[in-house]
Amino acid sequence: MRFSVIGGAAWFDEHVVAARAAAYAQLLEEARQGFSHDQASAGWMALEETASESVLRRIEKKAAEIAREADVFVLIGVGGSNNAARAIIESMTADRKIEIVYAGTATAPSSLERVLARMKDRSVYVNVIAKNFETLEPGAAFRVIRKEMYRRYGSDAAQRIMATGTPGSRLHRLCQTHGWDFFTFPKTVGGRYSAFTDVGLLPMAVAGADIRAFVRGAQKMQTQLLNTPACENPALLYAAARTLLYDRGYRVEFLTFFEPRLSFFAKWWLQLFGESEGKRDKGLLPHTCECSEELHALGQFLQQGTPIGLETFLCMEEVSKGPSLEPDDVDDGFGYLDTKHFCDLNEAALAATMEAHSRHLPCLRLETGCCTEETFGGMYFFFMLACVFSCRMLGVDPFDGPGVEAYKQSMFSKLGKETV
Ligand code: PA5
Repeated sequence: MRFSVIGGAAWFDEHVVAARAAAYAQLLEEARQGFSHDQASAGWMALEETASESVLRRIEKKAAEIAREADVFVLIGVGGSNNAARAIIESMTADRKIEIVYAGTATAPSSLERVLARMKDRSVYVNVIAKNFETLEPGAAFRVIRKEMYRRYGSDAAQRIMATGTPGSRLHRLCQTHGWDFFTFPKTVGGRYSAFTDVGLLPMAVAGADIRAFVRGAQKMQTQLLNTPACENPALLYAAARTLLYDRGYRVEFLTFFEPRLSFFAKWWLQLFGESEGKRDKGLLPHTCECSEELHALGQFLQQGTPIGLETFLCMEEVSKGPSLEPDDVDDGFGYLDTKHFCDLNEAALAATMEAHSRHLPCLRLETGCCTEETFGGMYFFFMLACVFSCRMLGVDPFDGPGVEAYKQSMFSKLGKETV
């Protein structure tokens, strides 16, 4: 990952960012120690444990069985319990026999009705993912879906249901009682940091993603980031730049990208930063900007609206030239595009947008590799570490999420749940 400031002189110079990163060098040192002072939440740094050879082998074996037997794989989970896998699965273009269907993300009746319709008359496997199995949305969806599974498959349903939860949790005990396969949601890994555990890896593997390449990407990024000095470290520089702008009054960060395969990755990014940073009346509101579409919507605001935001361009390397614009005999007024390829258009649109927006907003650029599992692995690790750095710079806990409890408690009381 490469970090740079676009049109720097108008906003701040790269040296200012580097100096701030250097001032926070102790954060890099803590990362090198695996955030050992924060054992309860630092498990995501131990890739060699959460994605060990035996973990990967077990997942690959199960995924191969599911891919062989199933037409539909229902992934039940919300927030950190499904976002990472969904981002990879939805970025993949390959045709796959198995359809991945998401449940437990909404309480709207139509949402579950759609899932049940996708399951109809097809061979189904289910993976419910919940750290403590207390969240209502996945819990309620799982009840309806497993009932349908037992109605359809009788006692054989047990072989088609698997759960990912923390050892010792109610979900774990249910697995023991009912004979569902149990996968581990490590206690020391929070939902939004769980991509490199059974939580993210099992659904990705079922969809046919190369999880070894994904983990390798993370390992390479970890090695790069932990061995790069603070003032040149892209994760620390990114964190330094965005928090510096926060200190100067900017309140929103737009993640802008010109690659639609990043759509669900952007949702993951939004959750990572939103839930990690937004507390104690602090934090940059994360927002996404998928181009070119959003240029015809948000583009106006970014160019001339209230100057509250900074924009981070996430640039993915392109390996395909795409279709070429060969002339035909229709005088359509687009002759200036003759013989160009779609990659030329995308490059021009990106360069033009960065040039135009950086006149109004501070703009940052992150450059990553081409759209592969290895690149995604690197990006996940990069943003997770950068997010922890940013939170520490802002003085908030990157791992908790006390604010989410407010709506839950109120909903529980409306639904008659007894609270202890
Ligand atoms: O990142 C987080 O901690 C949250 O988004 C959780 O993943 C989300 O609330 C779901 O929690 P659970 O897996 O306990 O159902």
